[in-house]
Amino acid sequence: MVSNHRFVLYGIDTQPDDPVDFPPPQHLLPAAMLYALAKPLLFMIDAETAHRMTINALKALPVHPVKHDPLLAMQVGGLDLPNPVGLAAGFDKHAEVPDAMLSLGFGFVEVGTVTPLPQAGNPRPRLFRLVPDRAVINRFGFNSVGIEGALANLRKRRGGGVIGVNVGANKDTADRIADYVIGVEAFRDVADYLTINISSPNTPGLRGLQGEPLTELLLAVAAVRGSKPVFLKVAPDLDGGQADAIVKASVDAKIDALIVSNTTVERPPLKSGHAREAGGLSGEPLKPLALDALRLFREAAGGQIALIAAGGIASADDAWARIRAGASAVQLYSALVYEGPGLARRINAGLADRLRAENFASIAEAVGRG
Ligand SMILES: Cc1cc2nc3c(=O)[nH]c(=O)nc-3n(C[C@H](O)[C@H](O)[C@H](O)COP(=O)(O)O)c2cc1C
Repeated sequence: MVSNHRFVLYGIDTQPDDPVDFPPPQHLLPAAMLYALAKPLLFMIDAETAHRMTINALKALPVHPVKHDPLLAMQVGGLDLPNPVGLAAGFDKHAEVPDAMLSLGFGFVEVGTVTPLPQAGNPRPRLFRLVPDRAVINRFGFNSVGIEGALANLRKRRGGGVIGVNVGANKDTADRIADYVIGVEAFRDVADYLTINISSPNTPGLRGLQGEPLTELLLAVAAVRGSKPVFLKVAPDLDGGQADAIVKASVDAKIDALIVSNTTVERPPLKSGHAREAGGLSGEPLKPLALDALRLFREAAGGQIALIAAGGIASADDAWARIRAGASAVQLYSALVYEGPGLARRINAGLADRLRAENFASIAEAVGRG
């Protein structure tokens, strides 16, 4: 036991007063050291190749159960989470490493987007790091191993923990709504929850499902969901009228939570040479837009439906601000690229500190108390 020292190792930051597990859990050290060694190299190579190498390294990582601070336990849309910090969809599109990611301290991991049939997605390059902006642009266009491939991977799971499957539609499908129904039916028995993703900017026309066809889509999904929680993931680029309509359709179809938000097609001022690449922007520049979108949906929801925040979350401060603005949980992806594998754990430790400092007995008590 090391005491009276702040122990910081390549992104794993454990303080002496951390009540959960100090010194840092041994199983996290290989990941942190590997990342510290690999980061400069990973940043020199094409972003998609670097991501593939990361996934392959994670596959080799031993999986361990994680001790969670009981103060951080949270219920969202009928789902029991050990902590409110989730991995957003898109990192593990094919469900190859959900248990490794849970081992890093995430309270829940959303795999996908998975489309019914395998598809290649857009031509490469289609993933860009905007390093000076701490941002990412992607235009993957739902590259997916398809339902069969993702199911095969999920059957090889190495541990427990909360897993969501994010489902989408094939680019060339004749019936988009039918694709979501097929996805929900395929995964409802292996997933703890399902996410309907109608907000990717990289499949032409997909975001149109947030409009008039939404009621039909959500009712079709509701008919096949069984008892599984279903979340709906929305874009940050919506106005108040659209938010009102989405909330109404979601409440009518008994959707359990809204994930606010996906990447943006907006281009706030950016420094990187990749700023003009087509696709969805995520990371730090998305933060104010996603926070605005959360506030818009909170207003529209009026407490009728739970909210999960995503977009530019990179610290405990960011997560805390979303919780205070009405989110019951958060998700992140882009910040992992810049902050490394200790991030979920650091954010959770910071959230527990804030709850204690402000005398909240649970995350639930702090939700919306902004
Ligand atoms: C490379 C990349 C791929 C993504 N792929 C998906 C996806 O397949 N499905 C989805 O719903 N969201 C996808 N997203 C969006 C993220 O889940 C998240 O909503 C968004 O990036 C905002 O969070 P962040 O700023 O923490 O990254 C992707 C994001 C990135 C950066």
